[in-house]
Amino acid sequence: MPVITCIEDLHRLYRRRAPRMFYDYAESGSWTEQTFRDNTTDFGQIRLRQRVAVDMTNRSTRTTMIGQDVAMPVALAPVGLTGMQHADGEILAARAAEAFGVPFTLSTMSICSLEDVAEHTTAPFWFQLYVMKDTDFVSRLLTRARAARVSALVLTLDLQILGQRHRDLRNGLSAPPKMTLPTVMNLATKWRWGMGMLRTRRRFFGNIVGHASGVTDASSLMSWTAEQFDPQLDWSKVARLRDEWGGKLILKGILDAEDARMAADIGADAIIVSNHGGRQLDGAISSIRALPSILDAVGDRVEVHLDGGIRSGQDVLKAVAMGARGTYIGRAFVYGLGALGQAGVTRALEVIHKELDVSMALCGERDIHNLGRHNLLVPRGFEGDWQV
Ligand SMILES: Cc1cc2nc3c(=O)[nH]c(=O)nc-3n(C[C@H](O)[C@H](O)[C@H](O)COP(=O)(O)O)c2cc1C
Repeated sequence: MPVITCIEDLHRLYRRRAPRMFYDYAESGSWTEQTFRDNTTDFGQIRLRQRVAVDMTNRSTRTTMIGQDVAMPVALAPVGLTGMQHADGEILAARAAEAFGVPFTLSTMSICSLEDVAEHTTAPFWFQLYVMKDTDFVSRLLTRARAARVSALVLTLDLQILGQRHRDLRNGLSAPPKMTLPTVMNLATKWRWGMGMLRTRRRFFGNIVGHASGVTDASSLMSWTAEQFDPQLDWSKVARLRDEWGGKLILKGILDAEDARMAADIGADAIIVSNHGGRQLDGAISSIRALPSILDAVGDRVEVHLDGGIRSGQDVLKAVAMGARGTYIGRAFVYGLGALGQAGVTRALEVIHKELDVSMALCGERDIHNLGRHNLLVPRGFEGDWQV
């Protein structure tokens, strides 16, 4: 295995090994990509408060997310088309997460199905739902999720309509890829990826193809989204889904204190402060900057989690010290998967864990539960003095 020192090492290898179309899919934000960039650069504005001459023995990053024990407060975020980044990608990522002791979240738009993941893992996992117009299909998905030992439903609220990512349009993104000349020429240089794909039968949207009636072309994320996602999703529908599911519920895509209050009122177990990795509303605030006002609004009523821009254990530390009970990584695990398969996801988790553990120690803390604002140097006005 090549020497991997940080997430960026995995990113570079991933870029070489993954087909251009899927690399671009992961590495894009919507429109100008301002929010996509802000998610990472805003973490960089926060500094850590170094402390010395503090006993550093017996450190622990163990905690819980929605009552579930986790080796560190980091879950794998739902990522569509993960099985196109590497053959059987969702199964491999779920296995790596299980072995490491962190939650794995399967996307509705995954290549491996709920049943595939359940069959190849032993721990319960989480399932992310996009609300569709076809309520029977949604009900069947929930039934399948229960049967697959899903222990929490992650309901995504920020994608009723797809944000435009220019590169996906130019590349004609689809699963499996359509064999245009540029795609064929690019795939010819990605032999590892191709060998894996030849060995698996999982090349379509596994939760959808064969399960949704009247689906004409499920290969295109764009056309499926436009046709099937429910643009009328509102809080009353969220409440109905909460009742229909009846289990742990996490609401994803909250970026505003007022929406956070609505989510807490509805009785969610957790919310994820998220802008979908900068892939939806370009121009929206970065997740880390949105976090303080949301914590002020609902921090005592609901678990507040965060995703967006996490590329290191130090970023996890910053989010947790700011008050998040848990975080999620999207691209950071995809880089690992596309670079080295399951071992790459494990490596991404190891890198983040080590960075978190060592940074915690150098901040003078031994227990993740003791992290707080006292560990951070946050520039004045970090949240922004916005006029609404
Ligand atoms: C390639 C890609 C696909 C994604 N697909 C989904 C999805 O199917 N459902 C969902 O709720 N979020 C999806 N997201 C958003 C992630 O769950 C998460 O919010 C985001 O990746 C966090 O930002 P990060 O990548 O900077 O860690 C996707 C993100 C990426 C990068």
